Amino acid sequence: MPHYRSVGEVPRKRHTQFRQPDGRLYAEELMGEEGFSSDSALLYHRELPTRICRVEAVGRDDDRLAPQEPLLPRHFRTQDLPAQGDLVTGKTLFLGNRSVRLSWVAAVEDSPLYRDSDGDLLVYVESGSGVLESVFGALPFSYGDYVVVPTGTTHRWVVTDGPVRALVVEARGHVTPPPRYLSQRGQLLESAPYCERDFRAPSEPLLVDAGETDVLVRRRGVLTRYTYPSHPFDVVGWDGCLYPHAFSIFDFEPLTGRVHQPPTVHQTFTGPGFVVCSFVPRLLDYHPDAIPVPYNHSNVDSDEVLFYVGGNMGSRAGSGIELGSVSLHPAGFVHGPQPGAVEKSLGTQATDEMAVMVDTFAPLDVAPGAYGYEARDYPWSWAR
Ligand SMILES: [Fe+2]
Repeated sequence: MPHYRSVGEVPRKRHTQFRQPDGRLYAEELMGEEGFSSDSALLYHRELPTRICRVEAVGRDDDRLAPQEPLLPRHFRTQDLPAQGDLVTGKTLFLGNRSVRLSWVAAVEDSPLYRDSDGDLLVYVESGSGVLESVFGALPFSYGDYVVVPTGTTHRWVVTDGPVRALVVEARGHVTPPPRYLSQRGQLLESAPYCERDFRAPSEPLLVDAGETDVLVRRRGVLTRYTYPSHPFDVVGWDGCLYPHAFSIFDFEPLTGRVHQPPTVHQTFTGPGFVVCSFVPRLLDYHPDAIPVPYNHSNVDSDEVLFYVGGNMGSRAGSGIELGSVSLHPAGFVHGPQPGAVEKSLGTQATDEMAVMVDTFAPLDVAPGAYGYEARDYPWSWAR
């Protein structure tokens, strides 16, 4: 987030002597994006964050993604996947490309300590609740939350009411509000669909006293386990503009119009090579002759993934799409409302639909396992 935050104890001047009660210096750690020329946070550890006592190669991510053959619209039924594992090691990859990977999880266990050094994590919580614990503190999350974890943040996901069903977006870079929502100096504009008050972040340090502690680290898809002599959650204070944060989809204020609005009005986040949009309950188009459902459309330069998370998807009723379904509408395929949906929608004044959309600007490849929970009749759903 581009907004300054200070939590716990920090000295008045940065990079000056800051001592613990026993007289030892606290150890500074500066986390800085883009070679320290962008957002950063300055953290104060009780112990050196650089000490490791063991290291172990753990393997690689599942990277068997492959292009679709033949090219088809797809319907993946995440609701058919079992609840198991945790948010880091238990997720099921289904789509990805060089800039982003999409996985789904129904986590029932707490995750190991983890640090993704390939990019930011954006997790959308479909149901359940828990706490994101990190070197920045604790951040509770629940149904409807987006949780953003900056690259390189040591963290773990604790499940308090499971399973935590979630879409996990692994970026290769940073996830931010769209730049057009921000003033030149970084304030969210009046015209944005949310404001600073809608974002939550850790508010106090989370100090854990423990001996040797393992942290799983991902870099270029390679997993490595570091063992530290003490627990990494030993930060007494931090400040800066780089920290985990949460935003509830229920705080997204939809922009509506007299005629059908393009998906861009629903944009919530942007990342390298993709955008994320939130479709939320809203009043529909109010021109007297408006057609409230979307027009048929070709995504000329993007693949479109829609995760159906609440309400009724009126435009696709009858297609087999249900809560928990994920549709993939790739470039090269023209898609649109269910036959008859346009006529049925006329005069409709509101929708209770909720969906999270990820549009990518490079083709998405499919993980072979995804075909195991695919609704095979979906490509012909417009022909019924
Ligand atoms: Fe679409």
